[in-house]
Amino acid sequence: MTGSVETFQLSVQAAEAYESSFVPALFADWAPHLVEAAGVAGGQAVLDVACGTGVVARAAADRMGGRGRVVGLDVNEGMLAVAGRLRPDIGWRQGDAGDLPFGAGEFDVVLCQSALMFFPDRAGALREMARVATAGGAVAVQVWDRLEAQAGYGAMYDAFAGHLGGQASELGGAYWALGDLDLLGSLFEAAGLRVAAARTRVGAARFGSATEAVATEIEATPLAARIDQDTRRRLVEAGTAAIRRFEVDGGRAELPISGHLVVGTKAG
Ligand SMILES: C[S@@+](CC[C@H](N)C(=O)[O-])C[C@H]1O[C@@H](n2cnc3c(N)ncnc32)[C@H](O)[C@@H]1O
Repeated sequence: MTGSVETFQLSVQAAEAYESSFVPALFADWAPHLVEAAGVAGGQAVLDVACGTGVVARAAADRMGGRGRVVGLDVNEGMLAVAGRLRPDIGWRQGDAGDLPFGAGEFDVVLCQSALMFFPDRAGALREMARVATAGGAVAVQVWDRLEAQAGYGAMYDAFAGHLGGQASELGGAYWALGDLDLLGSLFEAAGLRVAAARTRVGAARFGSATEAVATEIEATPLAARIDQDTRRRLVEAGTAAIRRFEVDGGRAELPISGHLVVGTKAG
């Protein structure tokens, strides 16, 4: 199956913003759940595909207590530069998820968080993950649920649409493109992976304010490079108004966000 044309490519500056604001607000909450679902344990060889700034690889390494091997792979040099600065003890490798630079059966566990929807050939990437997994090994993927399940970001992107036109639905649409759990399961099966576990979890993206949530969505994603200052100002204004109802005590914002965690095993 062919995926979207949105590949979530960031500049070095946006990669820094991704790590300092988006990772603590959202991605760090999901990483331990993915690592646990996959059964990561000390002594294993673990690969984090499309690692970004490395939050999942770090969660795996921490769980493994220094025993075993963790490698993070991403196509984006800016993301890898941040990852390497934070954790020089983990192996960071530039490469394409569609053509993994590893031999067959090299990893006990292959992880992939919030990224499968950005690959042009999702089925091919899953086949690659299955190829580099050991017989009996696990491939564990996290993706976001459908747009209809995303009250917070759905409202934000609805507000963006008035100022971005089709661009808003292209970027927003890519985020939720793998929200159909049955479709995801069939992609696993087509890649030769038996679905051993699949669950939907609702977490929260937590920000200091509604405006900070919108600013992060701009500065820490490909959006920043695609808009001018005037559009940015209008997005912040409209987006903030749209998500005000998710403000909690003291003005902090908590956007509920639903995602799927799927674990497949490679036939032994
Ligand atoms: C939303 S980020 C998720 C990063 C990380 N997994 C996390 O949880 O923070 C998506 C990542 O997918 C990467 N990516 C997109 N297409 C890729 C490809 N074909 N091969 C490897 N990485 C890719 C991007 O560079 C980006 O770092």
